[in-house]
Amino acid sequence: MVTHNRVIVELAAIPENVGVARLMAAMVAAQGAFTVAEVDEVKLAVSEAVTNAIVHGYRGDARRMVRMEATLDDGTLEIVVADEGRGIEDVELARQAAVTSDPERMGLGFSFMEAHMDEVHVESAVGRGTRVTMLKRPSARDVAAARGS
Ligand SMILES: Nc1ncnc2c1ncn2[C@@H]1O[C@H](COP(=O)(O)OP(=O)(O)OP(=O)(O)O)[C@@H](O)[C@H]1O
Ligand SMILES: [Mg+2]
Repeated sequence: MVTHNRVIVELAAIPENVGVARLMAAMVAAQGAFTVAEVDEVKLAVSEAVTNAIVHGYRGDARRMVRMEATLDDGTLEIVVADEGRGIEDVELARQAAVTSDPERMGLGFSFMEAHMDEVHVESAVGRGTRVTMLKRPSARDVAAARGS
């Protein structure tokens, strides 16, 4: 089991790269003490954050890059998804369920991230970009199992 690792990737802002980001994050999570179900939760949260960067941050401008960092620090997984796009005017409002700037969408991305991760932090500035930091700790039972105790 790996307790410390760090992977940083930059992805062109195209929908096809959501899957690439999911895989990278899942591979780092799987090195730690996370269950298959927990790794799936990480994949879902990453999908939402990277999709937001592509769709809202860059509005599908394929020349822009989304940055993802996946860090295992003493067993805790930290995922950072950052763009240098449009930014969010009112982060507190945007994080609420069913709040969206696009009537075609559900406005549930941030709610999913919160449901699947232990902590979600959002920093954003209009015209400067958005940085979403998500933490997930393996459940204690799983850590004990992974250590064979
Ligand atoms: N990276 C980002 N850059 C700019 N705006 C963002 C970004 N991420 C989220 N937002 C804003 O926050 C709102 C809420 O995001 P959220 O992911 O919860 O819902 P959604 O993307 O609108 O819908 P869904 O995720 O259900 O498809 C978005 O509609 C958008 O206005
Ligand atoms: Mg979304």
